[in-house]
Amino acid sequence: MKILVTGGAGYIGSHTVLLLLENGYEVVVVDNLSNSSYESLKRVMEITGKTVDFYECDINDYDKLDEIFSIHDINSVIHFAGLKAVGESVSIPLKYYENNLTGTFTLLEVMIKHNVKKIVFSSSATVYGDPHKVPITEDMPNSATNPYGRTKLFLEQILSDVYVSDKEFSVSLLRYFNPIGAHESGRIGENPKGIPNNLMPYITQVASGKLQQLSVFGNDYNTHDGTGVRDYIHVMDLSMGHLKAIEYIQDKTGVFVHNLGTGTGYSVLDLVKAFEEANGIKVPYQIVARRPGDIAACYADPGKAKAELGWQAEKNIVDMCRDAWNWQKQNPNGYEA
Ligand code: NAD
Ligand code: UD1
Repeated sequence: MKILVTGGAGYIGSHTVLLLLENGYEVVVVDNLSNSSYESLKRVMEITGKTVDFYECDINDYDKLDEIFSIHDINSVIHFAGLKAVGESVSIPLKYYENNLTGTFTLLEVMIKHNVKKIVFSSSATVYGDPHKVPITEDMPNSATNPYGRTKLFLEQILSDVYVSDKEFSVSLLRYFNPIGAHESGRIGENPKGIPNNLMPYITQVASGKLQQLSVFGNDYNTHDGTGVRDYIHVMDLSMGHLKAIEYIQDKTGVFVHNLGTGTGYSVLDLVKAFEEANGIKVPYQIVARRPGDIAACYADPGKAKAELGWQAEKNIVDMCRDAWNWQKQNPNGYEA
């Protein structure tokens, strides 16, 4: 069975492509490499000994997508392609709307033309805004506080409208919590450009000496130690969730929403401690002011994914810290030689 993966050279995409290949799927990747490198897919092919059909192509390019769908007999699409930096989305909202929304419209038009009606979409826990309770269940209210989050919210609604207009569609909306870690080989991993915004890549760069110390954004939240609590999930577990979602939508039509998280919340200081213990390295930090827009606690109730997809996270916080560091150690400059 052939799966088209948009954004397949990126962080979560490359790990998912690896698992798809290992599980016998044929994979076509479409990526414009705006936030990734072809090197990730070369390494995926090395690890698996299997081949990916790669197209350097923007999902806004109707003609090229049309050609790719003509060449390949695509069964389903996993749609990762998108811009994802919250701060940047506030500065250049139109770029985010064009890339994430218009790009998805083009993709959907080409899918419809070629009668491909199964799609797994990368949504985010950001659609829950500031949740009134944790753990978060899928039926809780949605909101967005920045253009990035709004693209996820809009696209969830747009994909649902597409299903309403055509009941042959099968739409899986996967709401990721905080993916971290890397493949156990340390050959593929997260490759942030410039100074990382997210916690784990920042920690690994402090551990490697690239950055001096971690700034912990606030210790006066209403959490067990005052620092922000999140649901960190190993990227391999998250990727496996996509394989389960692909299987799930094969014999169904409709719109299906699932949280992909572990169900356990760790604070910033918990993660620092776990990283130090797992790897035997100190991570110097200082407490600074809260980051605007941050919330106190966000973690999933992953029960629906377990019951319906037969999926649950298997790896623990030590695995996540060890694998994140293994990748950083082996690739101090990411995919750049
Ligand atoms: P990533 O930036 O590593 O991967 C995204 C990929 O999409 C990149 O390879 C990029 O080059 C490609 N891309 C972007 N715009 C494109 C376009 N117009 N045409 C073709 N390719 C394009 O990010 P990631 O962390 O792997 O995230 C994948 C998806 O998951 C994104 O949609 C993101 O919003 C979503 N998500 C990520 C997180 C996270 O913390 N990493 C959390 C929730 C949701
Ligand atoms: C980020 C995104 C969110 C996305 C989520 C999942 C932002 C503002 N939000 O959220 O849209 O859905 O990832 O990938 O980028 N922290 C520090 N110091 C740092 C970095 C982070 O203390 O240098 C703290 C944060 O305050 C937070 C926790 O670490 O409490 C996690 O931060 P981060 O990795 O950026 O993820 P989220 O804030 O959950």
